[in-house]
Amino acid sequence: MTDISALQASILADVAAAADEASLETVRVGALGKKGSVSALLAGLGKMSPDERKSEGAKINLVKDAVAGAIAQRRAALKEAALEARLAGERLDVTLPAREQGASLGRVHPISQVMDELAAIFADMGFSIAEGPDIETDDYNFTKLNFPPDHPAREMHDTFFFEPDAHGRRKLLRTHTSPVQVRAMLTKAPPIRVICPGRTYRCDSDQTHTPMFHQVEGLVVDRSSHLGHLKWILEEFLKAFFETKSVSLRFRPSYFPFTEPSMEVDVRCSRKGGEIRFGEGDDWLEILGCGMVHPNVLRNCGLDPAEYQGFAWGVGIDRLAMLKYGLPDLRAFFEADVRWLKHYGFRPLDFPTLAGGLSAP
Ligand code: DAH
Repeated sequence: MTDISALQASILADVAAAADEASLETVRVGALGKKGSVSALLAGLGKMSPDERKSEGAKINLVKDAVAGAIAQRRAALKEAALEARLAGERLDVTLPAREQGASLGRVHPISQVMDELAAIFADMGFSIAEGPDIETDDYNFTKLNFPPDHPAREMHDTFFFEPDAHGRRKLLRTHTSPVQVRAMLTKAPPIRVICPGRTYRCDSDQTHTPMFHQVEGLVVDRSSHLGHLKWILEEFLKAFFETKSVSLRFRPSYFPFTEPSMEVDVRCSRKGGEIRFGEGDDWLEILGCGMVHPNVLRNCGLDPAEYQGFAWGVGIDRLAMLKYGLPDLRAFFEADVRWLKHYGFRPLDFPTLAGGLSAP
């Protein structure tokens, strides 16, 4: 019967044209479902004579089998194609290097690194960290630190002053971290053991000076603090910081208004091949200023010099970073060049610790 073979041809064409499993299912329901075209033919058999039923039944069943077979084949092919497409889409080359992202991309600036190292070293010796504001009063930056009014040292500091207020008082950008000593003595009761890292400002700019730079101040006040303690602390600090077994120090008399006696400290080093190495050689490198806290400073900060004595020191952090990490030009520190930071910076999750290594590789 041409009807039946035309129907079969049309269903098979639909099966072949079905682009996905959903449209194939629509074709199946249209042909073999309860109300499908092939099922309708089968339902018609009941009205036929037994002979007709036999011959027509056989033909219709052939169509049914052909359609069912074609659908099964097409479904398998579509499944396979879908799987292929998914596998191609999810393809991953596990041999490629992992892309750097997030925390591993950033770098810690050498100055922040050195500050973290200082914190680790001095925390281990029982010091805590004290901070003060960058904008200071003349009183804390100079007067309480025993700089007499109109003393030339005030000018030596190349101070950035703000406009005077209604009372004629000028605030300033602190020229050193020493005013944080004053703040510590005014707010803490002895024994005091603090380091004060932070930004400092002087109107000065060349290869080794920038208008903003960093210092760390150290202060110890107790009933019996003496220069022997200071010497030991500085030696331990420099050994730990420069990661050398020994250092030798030379104390030279100097002058600071806030200490008496005042000293400058040189570290023994060698400069062979233009490279500075500590703990060897016959050369000396000036590294910091220090002294016993002047009785006037103690008094200005409410402490009785007959009862308490202390010592203090001040170091340039930028210089420490340059010396330790071989950084040639101070100005590059503040240029915010990511290529420089990528080269000289430190991985953010490698915290410096005394036990785990200060300058992680
Ligand atoms: N404040 C000094 C400066 O900036 C450094 C200094 C010297 C600090 C001696 C001190 C000290 O605490 O005792 O030049």
